[in-house]
Amino acid sequence: MTSAGIDQARSLVQGAQGIAVLTGAGISTDSGIPDFRGPKGLWTRDPDAEKYSSIDFYLSDPELRVRAWQFRLSNPVLVAQPNAGHSALVALEHSGKLQRLVTQNIDGLHLAAGTSPELLTEAHGNTREAVCTSCTWRGPMSETLDRVRAGEADPACSECGGILKSATVFFGQSLDPACVQAAFDAAASCDLLVCLGSTLAVYPVAEMVPIALGEGTPVLIVNAERTEFDESALVLRGSLSELLPEIFSGLSES
Ligand code: APR
Repeated sequence: MTSAGIDQARSLVQGAQGIAVLTGAGISTDSGIPDFRGPKGLWTRDPDAEKYSSIDFYLSDPELRVRAWQFRLSNPVLVAQPNAGHSALVALEHSGKLQRLVTQNIDGLHLAAGTSPELLTEAHGNTREAVCTSCTWRGPMSETLDRVRAGEADPACSECGGILKSATVFFGQSLDPACVQAAFDAAASCDLLVCLGSTLAVYPVAEMVPIALGEGTPVLIVNAERTEFDESALVLRGSLSELLPEIFSGLSES
């Protein structure tokens, strides 16, 4: 990455007061969590793996659920720690410039790094909780994983006997309308939209970019590969855990 690109990005950040940030799986790969569509992504390596995240397959195939619970036991998310990219976004918040952080990630690493919960929208849910697909029960994922370790291969809801899953949004499910509205409102009202580690290929969250562009708001994209919106943005190509500390360094604490 040229220093000119970084200087341009720093200048955009310095000149903005209310920054909306959208993060994707690319900010967590340096924490040991694979992304989906990158060169070593989960979907890149095994296109069938997407079934584990499809609600129809999950509800209809007990064997798939058993494999999904075994995966959850060894999920890298359980041991992952935030990296310098997550920490750089905490520094951005401490500067007073972060209006909202919308993440597509379910790993909880923004909260673990210190991002304030009230500024964070986890648009695709999180893996901290398990939920019932038939009633309103929800509880700590750790307790349900204890049931799996104790021998329940596909633990049923203790309230209604329904199928349990992680509190993440599966393909075929709708996002929480409040999350979508918060993301769209942030894109419409911010004075800079920063998109980090995402192919920007999945809606409705990716709609944040055209919403911001429609308001004449500048868009900064930092990503290892091209995205759907590169032509309309300032693009920095490279590693987020290396670039973000440079882009967000030197911001005075508000
Ligand atoms: N630095 C910069 N970019 C990176 C890094 C890194 N260290 N590691 C990966 N990337 C880039 C990849 O090259 C890729 O372009 O991050 C991008 C991640 O894109 P995706 O794998 O498509 O992830 P994301 O955009 O978050 O996917 C959106 O799709 O599968 C669903 O629900 C899932 O939330 C996910 C959604």
